[in-house]
Amino acid sequence: MNGPKVTVIGSMNMDLVVKTAAIPKLGETVFGQSFSTLPGGKGANQAVACARLGADVKMVGCVGNDAFGTELIATLRNEGVNTSYVEPVPHCSTGIASINVQEGDNSIIVVPGANFAVTREVVAKAEEAIKQADIVLLQLEIPLDAVTEAVNIANKYKIPVIVNPAPAQILPKELVDKITYLTPNEYELAILITGQPVVESSFNEMMSKLPGKVVMTKGSNGAYFVDHNLELYHQQAFKVEAVDTTGAGDTFNAVFAVQIAKGNSVKEAMTYAAMASAISVTKFGAQGGMPTAKDVDEWKTKLVEAGR
Ligand code: RIB
Repeated sequence: MNGPKVTVIGSMNMDLVVKTAAIPKLGETVFGQSFSTLPGGKGANQAVACARLGADVKMVGCVGNDAFGTELIATLRNEGVNTSYVEPVPHCSTGIASINVQEGDNSIIVVPGANFAVTREVVAKAEEAIKQADIVLLQLEIPLDAVTEAVNIANKYKIPVIVNPAPAQILPKELVDKITYLTPNEYELAILITGQPVVESSFNEMMSKLPGKVVMTKGSNGAYFVDHNLELYHQQAFKVEAVDTTGAGDTFNAVFAVQIAKGNSVKEAMTYAAMASAISVTKFGAQGGMPTAKDVDEWKTKLVEAGR
């Protein structure tokens, strides 16, 4: 493969997805419309999205020694992702995510299982994969210790690192300083900067505290970036009929990472990532709608032809 080398260190989940017209309140039972088991996990999703764009991807992570684990590894291999750094761990079940999809939007409960077996040692064993990468991509569904180890190894070899700080967590300043780009949504940004989910100050103000580092995603409002000169850049989202938004953030992160690894500017990377994530929500499942480079290019051509 000739594309950029991306090493993704993160979670692998089996998504247990219920499509429903209503989410039950506590004590209530409702009928759902359909149930599917689909490969997911922020780490694996981002690995798949990078591979579909033509990147040469290595996945570092853990699954349980069970049927879900076997299936998740097979899925990654089918997508052309190198899984030689994925460890099946005994006495531990593969991570799962219980996902309710209602009117195209979702709510998720993650049970990490084997994802929490991704220790510093597991990451240290993947030093070569980090050293050889053009970019390293991380999320927070594995222990922070493991994320820190990966960032330290990447820094040692001067490899750029993107951290998608999801689910939301406060990160130590020493760690933030070593990260090239952080890609929170607005909720995660507030936690990251203030430790509080809701804040008085504006998001521009918060991003200005880390100029040139934060790309904040905001669902159907697109994405924002404050550069080193404190100029705010807004990338509009492309309007589509959303079938399922699960994995849209993962597509954005992966595509952004691949574009940066190819030497494109942050703004160019954000535009391409916004197109790819718009395409991704038009199909069901986190990985179901993730586009190939050809899909994005064809979509772009249609937009230009339509004068949008
Ligand atoms: O970002 C979407 C992912 O979050 C799902 O695939 C689920 O596994 C959770 O990790």
